[in-house]
Amino acid sequence: MVRERIEELRRQLELHNFKYYVENAPEISDFEFDTMMRELQDLERAHPEYADPNSPTVRVGSDLTAEFATVRHRYPMLSLGNTYSPDELHEFIARIEREVGATDFVCELKFDGTAISLTYDHGTLTRAVTRGDGVAGDDVTANVRTVRSVPLRLRGTGWPQHFEIRGEILMPYASFDRLNAEREANGEQLFANPRNAAAGTLKQQSSAVVARRGLDCTLYQLAGDDLPFTNHWESLQRAREWGFKISDRMRICRNAAEIDDFIRYWDTARHELPFPTDGVVIKVNDFAVRRQLGFTAKAPKWAVAYKFKAEQVLTRLESISFQVGRTGAVTPVANLAPVLLAGTTVRRATLHNAEQMALLDVRPGDMVYVEKGGEIIPKITGVELSQRPADSRPFEYITHCPECGTELVRYEGEAKHYCPNQSGCRPQIIGRIIHFIRRKALDIEGLGEETVELLYDNSLVRTVADLYDLRAEQLSPLPRLGEKSAENIIRSIERSKEVPFPRVLFGLGIRFVGETTAKYLAEHFRTLDAVMHASREELVEADEVGERIADAILEYFADAANLDIIRRLREAGLQFEAAARELASETLVGKSFVVSGRFSRSRDEMKALIEAHGGKNLAAVSGSVDYIVAGEKMGPAKLKKAEKLGIRILSEEEFFRMIEGGTPTETAETIGAEAPAETTDTAEAVETATPADVAGTTADTESAPHSEATSSGPAP
Ligand code: IVH
Repeated sequence: MVRERIEELRRQLELHNFKYYVENAPEISDFEFDTMMRELQDLERAHPEYADPNSPTVRVGSDLTAEFATVRHRYPMLSLGNTYSPDELHEFIARIEREVGATDFVCELKFDGTAISLTYDHGTLTRAVTRGDGVAGDDVTANVRTVRSVPLRLRGTGWPQHFEIRGEILMPYASFDRLNAEREANGEQLFANPRNAAAGTLKQQSSAVVARRGLDCTLYQLAGDDLPFTNHWESLQRAREWGFKISDRMRICRNAAEIDDFIRYWDTARHELPFPTDGVVIKVNDFAVRRQLGFTAKAPKWAVAYKFKAEQVLTRLESISFQVGRTGAVTPVANLAPVLLAGTTVRRATLHNAEQMALLDVRPGDMVYVEKGGEIIPKITGVELSQRPADSRPFEYITHCPECGTELVRYEGEAKHYCPNQSGCRPQIIGRIIHFIRRKALDIEGLGEETVELLYDNSLVRTVADLYDLRAEQLSPLPRLGEKSAENIIRSIERSKEVPFPRVLFGLGIRFVGETTAKYLAEHFRTLDAVMHASREELVEADEVGERIADAILEYFADAANLDIIRRLREAGLQFEAAARELASETLVGKSFVVSGRFSRSRDEMKALIEAHGGKNLAAVSGSVDYIVAGEKMGPAKLKKAEKLGIRILSEEEFFRMIEGGTPTETAETIGAEAPAETTDTAEAVETATPADVAGTTADTESAPHSEATSSGPAP
């Protein structure tokens, strides 16, 4: 019964996942999808014996630390010869035609992400490996499983029992913009372009983080020993039927003129695509012809990448100014003589930081090259030295804050300069207030950036706490406000006192504590007092809180000015405690637990479950603990102490059985950490017993015929 239901839910979720993420044609609402997902999660939790590493529930990821094993590619991941020159491209085509006669080419977009190789055994995803050096790459399977457009199980029929498929992990612009906006709000370094963001995300330690970043995956090449196709086009059409996301922006071209058309079209049309591309890949279609052409040492002779030129213009750098952000970070900005670039007029470009500027040796008055490549913000790529004014002097980076005059500082490991005058520097103060009133924080309507500046300049608001002392009669005389909007603002400020604790915590603007981290902190500590008094060790216990974030939190609460703001906000009546959780059952009422070791889900999820069933979590093993839930790798000292105190030890599975209503069996007491939890056990067994594992880790690339979609190997 349960098993059937689990299977039915998995089938449904896979189907709708495919419709949504691969076909872009959802058939059910997000709510229906989430409801099914939650039911499946609950069932899997209660029945770890039915665990499956390819269940749709793995798409949400977990924060178990992933270690990336290096895996040898069964078929080496070759690179492509590339060219920016139409002449070279024509020569490539002519050479092939000379060698094999007229032949069809497949033209595809060149996706600008990071290459991935997926292995499927018996129709399920068993491994995902990055390109690495082409011979061996990192095993990033756990992270790739969270990418919604990667099929965990294949659809349809006729797929080879063992094969690999290669493609690109991409970050669509929408995900990229959201990620960078979030990072900016958290005072974190921005990703320069979607390619870096995609590659960086794949190497994340926590797959739960990967799951939220909105990666996508497009596949473009099969590899295997006996693939049942005679040409590339056909192989991709079939792969599409198996559930892979295959671009439909490709075309069979019979000659150079058709290839030129394809390139000309996409050189402009690509700007409308929702993801980044940097060229066109031209591949011989027929596998027999590919075999005939063979390989050079590094790349196939049957394919080439034609790269689009990033549009570049030359313009005058009129001046350099400096922006100071909410966190005090200083960004140098180039003010340019307005110039048309890729369809928009560019007036400003980022200069990143002092080092970057020194590297380019840019000076005001220079003629500079401005480029909009994969980057969204235009950047300066070089200086036209032949046009440098004779009296030009090297630019000296500022030493003091352009806003408040305080001497700038550098922090270890950070490229930017910072203004340390947090409480007296105008843009920092205003930035913090604007952050506080944001929709995702305290959501105070009617107060925009300009109004906040107005309030600050009229000495009405110096800190976020001052907002709660405002009266309508102070606001209405201000320009552009009037009585009605003054009252609206006051009402909105009043309403913000009901905003739930996680958003208040986010609104405080602690460095690196973004929306998600604030949620995890609130979930873990429940009250602001608990967060404030937590030690560094206790802080990193919370999901997704690392040492860098812990230090930022400690620093924030060590500042007397911040403590004063918090005292006043508390007096004003803001929510400094998480709402009480509704109990799922009373099974664990009156019982105390310590959770230790690694589980199939995160420790915080385990703790949340204990509380949801009425139990209490304790931090340390002591006489008042009733049970220890022991995961893998629980510390031996803890275990010894527990045994000495006679505390009952539960495996993960026994714990789940307990909350399902059963009481643990007597044997459970002594099992403890020697017997790792069932769920992880099963999951690993499935994962490691696959033939791909054997094939991928052993150095059998020499004995096996190498092939990228064909069975011909690279030329010796
Ligand atoms: S085919 C042996 N097709 O470009 C040929 N590659 O410069 C294997 N890329 O490492 C690659 N879009 O990461 C191919 N439609 C496409 C592609 C593509 C992007 C990337 C890929 C490869 C790099 C080579």
